[in-house]
Amino acid sequence: MKKIITVVGARPQFIKAATLSRQFQLFGIEELIIHTGQHFDANMSDVFFEEMEIPKPAFQLNIHSLTHGAMTGRMLEGIEDILIKEKPEGVIVYGDTNSTLAGALAASKLHIPVIHVEAGLRSFNMQMPEEINRILTDRISDLLFCPTSTAVTNLLREGYGDLPIKICKNGDVMQDAAIYYAAKAELKSDILKQINLPSFVLATIHRQENTDSPENLRNIVAGLNDINSKIPVIVPIHPRTRKILAQMKLVPKFKMIEPVGYFDMIILLKHCDLVITDSGGVQKEAFFFGKHCITLREQTEWVELVENGYNILVGSNSHKLEFAFANLISKSSDFSLDLYGKGHAAERAAEEILNY
Ligand code: UD1
Ligand code: UDP
Repeated sequence: MKKIITVVGARPQFIKAATLSRQFQLFGIEELIIHTGQHFDANMSDVFFEEMEIPKPAFQLNIHSLTHGAMTGRMLEGIEDILIKEKPEGVIVYGDTNSTLAGALAASKLHIPVIHVEAGLRSFNMQMPEEINRILTDRISDLLFCPTSTAVTNLLREGYGDLPIKICKNGDVMQDAAIYYAAKAELKSDILKQINLPSFVLATIHRQENTDSPENLRNIVAGLNDINSKIPVIVPIHPRTRKILAQMKLVPKFKMIEPVGYFDMIILLKHCDLVITDSGGVQKEAFFFGKHCITLREQTEWVELVENGYNILVGSNSHKLEFAFANLISKSSDFSLDLYGKGHAAERAAEEILNY
């Protein structure tokens, strides 16, 4: 393939796409980016394009803040128009958001090969919008890039071995990003000066199952407040969570800051004492930067982190959270295990795409 279209829309997708975009330039593959507009605040979108030097999107659909069906439907229509005009040889989608599903569906109905990066991941929880998006996206894709052996096993269990779909285990592109941008982050970020704390816990919360359940959100806030009484907790707060906390008139005791750019996030990950999150990406980044993680979910797609003792799942149970905190805050572990490919995932994927 020599001409491809990339569909992105949400924060983690900009970070993943940055690694492939760089490789496409090296491999001489023409890439046009469609930004669906799903994430639109400057600190949720523009900052990543600037810091990570991602090519400016050729198309901006400006579709956001809608219900799942409306958002996905409008994206589908907008992406289809562009694909008909541009006639790419392939469409690349990342992860498991509504932008992922819309991009995959638009392309597959036009018989344009779909390439899914971060394929095969499963939480086995069909209540999660992400689980629906990723299962459907995998099934209508032609080329699946799996970050882990577990992802490959999941697909084979679902019968993908008998389907005309190519499966490649290439490693995790987020590890590529963490390695490539870490040195730049050191030079550019002054977040440590801004927060001015010798030690701290870094937390993020945005998952629908936590934010849209007042009980779950109250429990998580209570647990983090308790931890904050022992060591400061810093939370770059997702706009979804900020809005809901305001609606609930819930004022946490821990420190909330605006969402930070990727460079600041790397520095916070490098220097924190522990990570607490319900994010998919941040669980892995904790590992990349040698930090234990407590995950505010009942399941994770990144089971190897739990199996190897780097991550503890606590759901939204504040007692389990406090117990896991006591267990992990002064634990030391060897983080040198190669779980995610050590930084060559994007290169492997680009080579495969060129020859597809
Ligand atoms: C989406 C993805 C989720 C992913 C997350 C990454 C889906 C179904 N969910 O969830 O899988 O983990 O992105 O962060 O695709 N908002 C703003 N400003 C922004 C972005 C969002 O105010 O820049 C607000 C929206 O108006 C909306 C809320 O946040 O009210 C949720 O945004 P949405 O994109 O629907 O879902 P996320 O929770 O961000
Ligand atoms: N991230 C960031 N700034 C923040 C919070 C997260 O740059 O304030 C990065 C984080 O380092 C990771 C990605 O955003 O690379 C994860 O995105 P998010 O948690 O929104 O989504 P998920 O991975 O759960 O889909």
